[in-house]
Amino acid sequence: MKQAVDLLTERLNGLAPRLALVLGSGLGSLVEQVTDAVRIPYGELPGFPHSGVSGHAGALVAGHLSGQPVVVLAGRTHYYEHGNPAAMRPALEVLAGIGVDTLILTNAAGSLRTDMPPGSVMLIEDHINFSGTNPLIGESTDRRFVGLSEAYDRGLRDALEAAAAEAGVRLHKGIYMWFSGPSFETPAEIRMARTLGADAVGMSTVPEVILARFLGLRVAACSVITNLAAGMAAGELSHEETKDVAPRGGGELAKILDRFLRDGAAGR
Ligand code: HPA
Repeated sequence: MKQAVDLLTERLNGLAPRLALVLGSGLGSLVEQVTDAVRIPYGELPGFPHSGVSGHAGALVAGHLSGQPVVVLAGRTHYYEHGNPAAMRPALEVLAGIGVDTLILTNAAGSLRTDMPPGSVMLIEDHINFSGTNPLIGESTDRRFVGLSEAYDRGLRDALEAAAAEAGVRLHKGIYMWFSGPSFETPAEIRMARTLGADAVGMSTVPEVILARFLGLRVAACSVITNLAAGMAAGELSHEETKDVAPRGGGELAKILDRFLRDGAAGR
């Protein structure tokens, strides 16, 4: 961990971003908008994940986005790739180690609401961990008992909502339910998820939120809706569809983040 922090600090050459962004499936294009970009493949950063999912690039890109210093994680690793829910822990520890205090996570998700169709963006207000696992299992200190009563930071949520309004982008709000994947859900599971209070389902983000709270980072997260969840529309779900549709909502999300960053909202 110290090795990666030192390496990154050296490569960043005085840039000290406090905000980190994690880009989900098909949302990687935002990284092209980073100026003065320093790009470091995860392979060069000790502890960083080797993401094997198509649609995920696997590089850290630091620089400026909409005038603000940022570090972007283009690509994450998922629990379903290896069965380790804590696989993003070293990367998040390194971010905290270089002074990042705010984390914005993005993902692609299936919608449980017909009024939130593919292409929509949803601000995650809270989550349901339906995976049966937790990234802090095995952590031996009492710090493992992390409170999640307000996991998604109120100030960041308000700022993102304000940014969306200013950008003229509709930002839905809802509850994200984490399924382990990699198979998609069944229609029966989606009916259950709805009964339990979910608005969207996906295969990521929740373990990172738990780890980030453990590390004391402020967290916000947004889902780009790529499909109506299983059983809600004709045809089978596919990762191809996720990758095809994500850039559409990703463009809307990028407008929100641009406004959010220009407003200097992360520093509030
Ligand atoms: N289910 C789970 N994860 C997803 C979905 C979905 O329908 N769409 C995109 N990611």
